[in-house]
Amino acid sequence: MEKPLLKLGVLISGRGSNLKALIEAIKNKELNAKICIVISNNPKAYGLRIAETNSIPTKIIEPKQFNSLEEYEKIILNSLNQYQVDLLILAGYMKVLGPTLLKAFPNKIMNIHPSLLPSFRGLHAQKQAIDFGVRCSGCTVHFVNEELDGGPIILQEAVPVLPKDTDDSLSERILVKEHKLYAKAIQLYAEGRLKIKNNKVIITE
Ligand code: GRF
Repeated sequence: MEKPLLKLGVLISGRGSNLKALIEAIKNKELNAKICIVISNNPKAYGLRIAETNSIPTKIIEPKQFNSLEEYEKIILNSLNQYQVDLLILAGYMKVLGPTLLKAFPNKIMNIHPSLLPSFRGLHAQKQAIDFGVRCSGCTVHFVNEELDGGPIILQEAVPVLPKDTDDSLSERILVKEHKLYAKAIQLYAEGRLKIKNNKVIITE
């Protein structure tokens, strides 16, 4: 019997270029999954338009409408459950997750970060790389746990840092790699090939 299609929920806050790349990968059959719902904490996120153009249901859930992170995340969780989401994808979601979502999706949340973790965690990773003077940075897809940008690493891709690079030029070069890497990591998950042992991801054949 064929495996049921992996159901994705995507959390965004902004531009949504990674979301767009995932939509393209699904159309091109490089990724066997379905994006069931896109949720944004920011009503102005351009990613919402991308989802709508592609007939994907969207929801705006703003933290300021709630008294606590727990209440806010419970509402997100209701929507994800409504669509029976299997894997939660953070695609430029600019909020740290709390226990409600982490507990509901143990080892079932992925994030993409624009550096080679564990270097340059947190905000402005590309600027951090330039300021530090590294010759090489890149991007990382990882599972999300309670440690910021600290969960088990799934895939990484290196990108050179050039002498004339600005934050923008480096970000752009990394983004090209991000757009391929995220779909690849999710496809490995869809194929049941990601196992976690001692906080490390093993990719099975
Ligand atoms: C990407 O650089 C991603 O690595 C980081 O946030 C950015 C989101 O960009 N987590 P976009 O909204 O997908 O265009």
